[in-house]
Amino acid sequence: MQVAIDGPASSGKSTIAKIVAKKLGFIYCDTGAMYRAATWLALRDHINLDDASDLLKALDDVTIRFEPTDDGQLVFINDIDITHAIREPDVTNNVSQVSALAPIRTEMVKRQQQIAEEGNIVMDGRDIGTTVLPHAQVKIFMTASAEERAKRRYAENIAKGIMTPLSQLQDEIVARDHKDSTRKISPLRKADDAIEIDTTHLGIDEVVAQILEIIQTVQNKN
Ligand code: DC
Repeated sequence: MQVAIDGPASSGKSTIAKIVAKKLGFIYCDTGAMYRAATWLALRDHINLDDASDLLKALDDVTIRFEPTDDGQLVFINDIDITHAIREPDVTNNVSQVSALAPIRTEMVKRQQQIAEEGNIVMDGRDIGTTVLPHAQVKIFMTASAEERAKRRYAENIAKGIMTPLSQLQDEIVARDHKDSTRKISPLRKADDAIEIDTTHLGIDEVVAQILEIIQTVQNKN
């Protein structure tokens, strides 16, 4: 069973996908973390991003892998734990550029499809239902208003001691939505057969319950 969850930045995809995967005992694959890992590698090795070939070569020599723990999933490049490093602003500010490079996307999609062959999976990202797992039995497109997403990001930031004004966060979210949905390759787009869930007025438990119900319905049909 493949469950594809797509949607814009801060729509709650990863939080929800992680819980759904855990409840069902499915593998969870955070594809955004893979683009972030590639970005981390490019920054560490001072790789020029105008041309994808150097980064592609560097990626050839490394594995990006996930390790589930009780406190959440860790992300590694080879044996280096980059779980926290990939959430730092320098990675966040450069990941759109990396994820717009066609050869990098091709490589990441290949790796994501290989991970999906390992078993039942919940995968979240921007192009999972459209490109990575076009035959996924369950496709969810998760949205929330830009205002609500900025509020969620603001609360997360405050918990981490980061004090960016709410209005700036909202502007950044709108700008990133625009970049992700207008890029030429694999733009953020709802797959025709995806079910849209607007989480603006829903709690985490409600969204999880809706998705579990959708999965259950599909499982009963098969
Ligand atoms: O979900 P996130 O914020 O961790 O994603 C990081 C970036 O990677 C974001 O700018 C969009 C991009 N991305 C993508 O292009 N395709 C995916 N499948 C997942 C993320």
